[in-house]
Amino acid sequence: MFKHSAKRSKKVFWLLFFKKVTSCTYVLFRLGDGLDKVYITTPIYYVNGAPHLGHAYTSVAADVLARWHRLEGADVFFLTGTDEHGQKVAAAARLAGVEPQAFVDGVAADFKDMAARMAISNDDFIRTTEPRHKAAAQAIWRRLAEAGAIYLGKYEGWYSVRDEAFYDAEETALRPDGVRIAVASGAPVEWVVEPSYFFKLSAFEAPLLAFYEANPGFIAPAAKRNEILSFVRGGLHDLSISRTSFTWGIPVPGDEAHVMYVWLDALVNYLTAVGYPDETAPRWGYWPANLHLVGKEIIRFHAVYWPAFLMAAGLELPKRVFSHGWWTVEGEKMSKSTGNFIDVRPLVDEFGLDVVRFFLVREVPFGNDGDFSRKALIARTNAELANGIGNLAQRTLSFIAKNAGGVVPARGVLTEEDHALLEQAGALPEKVRGAITRLAFHEALDEIWKVIRAADGYIDRQAPWVLRKSDTARMNTVLFTLVRVLRTVAVLLQPFMPESAGKLLDQLGVAADARQLAALDTPVAEGTTLPAPVGLFPRFVEA
Ligand code: MSP
Repeated sequence: MFKHSAKRSKKVFWLLFFKKVTSCTYVLFRLGDGLDKVYITTPIYYVNGAPHLGHAYTSVAADVLARWHRLEGADVFFLTGTDEHGQKVAAAARLAGVEPQAFVDGVAADFKDMAARMAISNDDFIRTTEPRHKAAAQAIWRRLAEAGAIYLGKYEGWYSVRDEAFYDAEETALRPDGVRIAVASGAPVEWVVEPSYFFKLSAFEAPLLAFYEANPGFIAPAAKRNEILSFVRGGLHDLSISRTSFTWGIPVPGDEAHVMYVWLDALVNYLTAVGYPDETAPRWGYWPANLHLVGKEIIRFHAVYWPAFLMAAGLELPKRVFSHGWWTVEGEKMSKSTGNFIDVRPLVDEFGLDVVRFFLVREVPFGNDGDFSRKALIARTNAELANGIGNLAQRTLSFIAKNAGGVVPARGVLTEEDHALLEQAGALPEKVRGAITRLAFHEALDEIWKVIRAADGYIDRQAPWVLRKSDTARMNTVLFTLVRVLRTVAVLLQPFMPESAGKLLDQLGVAADARQLAALDTPVAEGTTLPAPVGLFPRFVEA
């Protein structure tokens, strides 16, 4: 297939690459640590159907991270977008009786709307039907071809349109009704025979294993890492990367009878958005990405195929791929057959933006599967938002409005109890940082809620309503202490609940330019006039 000299130089290339990868010392991965630039991505969503809770989940989690790193002062580039080519999307357009481009334009607009409604703070929204992406995908193809990593052959095997994935026979099984399915996903597969270009994935088995070993933080959580390791150790076959039986895709450069395999096309989006193939583009400095956040079913594409493509193209590899779990709805899998896809937008209308965002990242340890139910949403909202942070803020701020002239009270001498609470709050940013670094959002929130509960206990014990009559100086010190604690809590809650945390900071009289993590070191300004307090979270009662 290759000329002899090309083969030899290719060997030298792999050898050098292999050395480079294995000699990398592993530095415990901390997103944003010591970095000015942080690049975070969501997967790009298929536009075969409307956006639902599952899509919102990946986007909200990525958004929390992006906002967190901005809060820390990092230069963040946060990308989301839509995956618009391939057989699945073409079939959906056909079913809708609409031309594919018009169809994807409509669904992509719906995904943009969902992102806006969930307050996703993406810096760019990539669509794979954009000219900039076609150029990038074709440029990568050429680079892979030049590296000798592509050859023409014929694909004969199983393909699932729903998963847009090729499967080995062992990965499929016959259902009792005679339909053959992919075991991992349950999606039907069909037998495909067609001319196809192949990527020499088999040549990357050893380099990938060496890379995983040198970078133990590359795949997380650990269970997924093990799954990927055993998949790769089990042996890699060359991967079919072009299709000839349909046309809805990016043409293969130099052979337009083929369109690029939708996963190769899609993965390249992460490069397109930072300017590839122009490696002098202003955004190129964000590459390699710090984190690709993905659902558990697409880890193989991101942790095996993607690094192999990048290795072959001689580009740097992303720092980490983190796989999260799946939501069921009221105990059932979301599916076309049950028609139980949940759109988050009506939930936002009913409960409010931050209630939905909070529930998604609080309810389930990130990485695990979870179940969405109205009952659980209402229970958590009432317990932790209405009765938790909402109540603490309301108790403190309305007391100040009524009894302390509506200004941040002056502090007197601090008692041991004041110090204890302030120290607990002072230690919070580091704890939250630690949890977020591990993408343990629920733990980060747990730490914040420990302080909220401690502050609640503190009010009960200090009883400012008693001090009002006996010792107003002490009452003011207690209220000042609470304002300081609330400021810390509100600043840290911004990535999770941007709207309500912003409202709380307004009510605490914190200026818009003093809401960064670093600003927590500045003193709370005594005497600041506070606006009239308004409730943050109502209690919900199911009718
Ligand atoms: N287009 C590919 C990704 C290409 S990335 C280069 C794709 N799209 S998707 O629309 O099917 O899914 C995108 C994301 O939504 C995945 O991270 C997936 O896990 C998430 N979810 C879809 N349904 C979900 C649930 N029921 N629960 C949680 N997340 C799920 O795959």
